[in-house]
Amino acid sequence: MIPARGGDDDPGTKRETQSPMKKITFSLSEVYRLLEPGPVVLVTTTRAGRANVMPMSWHLMMEFEPPLVGCVVSNRNYSFASLKATRECVINIPTVELAETVVACGNSSGRRVDKFMAFGLTPVAAACVKAPLIAECYASLECKVRDVKLAAQYNFFILEVVQAWVDPARKRPRTIHYQGEGEFMVAGRTLHLPSPKTSLSGK
Ligand SMILES: Cc1cc2nc3c(=O)[nH]c(=O)nc-3n(C[C@H](O)[C@H](O)[C@H](O)COP(=O)(O)O)c2cc1C
Repeated sequence: MIPARGGDDDPGTKRETQSPMKKITFSLSEVYRLLEPGPVVLVTTTRAGRANVMPMSWHLMMEFEPPLVGCVVSNRNYSFASLKATRECVINIPTVELAETVVACGNSSGRRVDKFMAFGLTPVAAACVKAPLIAECYASLECKVRDVKLAAQYNFFILEVVQAWVDPARKRPRTIHYQGEGEFMVAGRTLHLPSPKTSLSGK
């Protein structure tokens, strides 16, 4: 289990008697659960005319523009070979309403299942790549594989977003963030604070 986050001070204990170090050791195999990444996404690929969907949470932004995204796609997954062979995909961003579908897609493989059909997802033709957008997701990013140098050793791909789509009606999309062991955090409150990126762009 992840230790409870914050708010665990005991009001009955005097501050000066508390040890400043409250942490205990944490299993290395569970470290990934602490470094919570961005939203879980649904990566679509198309190979031999057949589209597939893979949930993914291990991704990171690497550059503003052109947007570069690094991601880990396990070589045990059907999507690994598709991504390597076709060098393109779409990163679709689902919201909490699709959480169960996300898990269902993660518990099955495109080797055996047509996930669009099985889980009621609607493919929409993309503008720049063969892989489809998913209509039910609030945003979709068409990507070309930019770099596979680390794919053999780390299953790591660098993608360039070449076309992005967002539903303007969804003002506060409640994305889901995977914390391992079947736990998801749902995006909530938004804070507006100055940051280097917003200052630089003059917003
Ligand atoms: C919430 C969630 C996040 C996941 N994140 C990743 C990931 O970052 N990389 C990965 O290779 N697999 C990830 N998986 C596992 C794959 O989605 C799963 O193995 C899937 O069945 C692969 O599908 P495919 O064989 O059709 O490609 C995740 C699964 C879930 C449910």
